[in-house]
Amino acid sequence: MKGFGRLGKVFNLLKKTKRLKSAVKLVCKEIENRITALPELPQGKIAIPLAVKPNVFPIPVVVCGALVEGRPNFNTIVNFGVISPARPSPVVYISSSKEHYTNIGIRKNGVFSVNVASRAIMAQTDYLGVVSGHNIDKSKVLTVFYGRHDNAPCLAECPLNYVCKVTHHVEINTMDVFIAEIAEAFVSSEFLRNNTIDIESMEMLIYTADNNYRIPSAPVSRAYSVFKEYKPIK
Ligand SMILES: Cc1cc2nc3c(=O)[nH]c(=O)nc-3n(C[C@H](O)[C@H](O)[C@H](O)COP(=O)(O)O)c2cc1C
Repeated sequence: MKGFGRLGKVFNLLKKTKRLKSAVKLVCKEIENRITALPELPQGKIAIPLAVKPNVFPIPVVVCGALVEGRPNFNTIVNFGVISPARPSPVVYISSSKEHYTNIGIRKNGVFSVNVASRAIMAQTDYLGVVSGHNIDKSKVLTVFYGRHDNAPCLAECPLNYVCKVTHHVEINTMDVFIAEIAEAFVSSEFLRNNTIDIESMEMLIYTADNNYRIPSAPVSRAYSVFKEYKPIK
């Protein structure tokens, strides 16, 4: 804080103290974790320091779309998930850093699109996740189309598109978390087989903690069915 003489110095000192305080808090937490006796763990199991990011799970890669200052903008998101799959309406969430340009449109319009990324548009997907609409026009990277909602630009090349209406906006740490109901859904007809979506041919992208894009591999068993092979211990 320049130009404020002694007041500025006091302010800077306070800022430093705040940073120091949060550093001390982190160290205390780590010490607390280390000194709190751990129960005996099963053989081969070790505790992971809390500083390790939790994103060890393969997660779908989606591209979110919003209209910002009259122009479609898109950002790549892996913090995406389903909260309620169907009745009374499907509910999803995305968690996007408050600083992102896309968020401006979502906060203003209360609507956004979720476009499932696929192998065919991998480079574009990555690009949309490394440059920002704050300085670059990303509206022409892929083909934009709209459903009934003018403020939710969708991407034609993505095999699946969802138009999402925000029902809750929660701020957690540095993130805007948008919880939204799916209002419309679109699929590229080439991925429909007998009225169901053919996951394999879609080659949707998933992201893993080793910083790789992957595509789902072949199924290993049927859900809600393979349990029959388990014999409960009596
Ligand atoms: C694979 C990948 C996944 C990403 N996932 C997220 C995410 O879940 N949340 C987030 O805030 N940013 C995420 N990002 C970063 C944003 O997409 C990126 O900062 C983007 O440039 C923001 O664009 P915007 O400012 O135009 O909205 C991801 C980027 C990549 C490449």
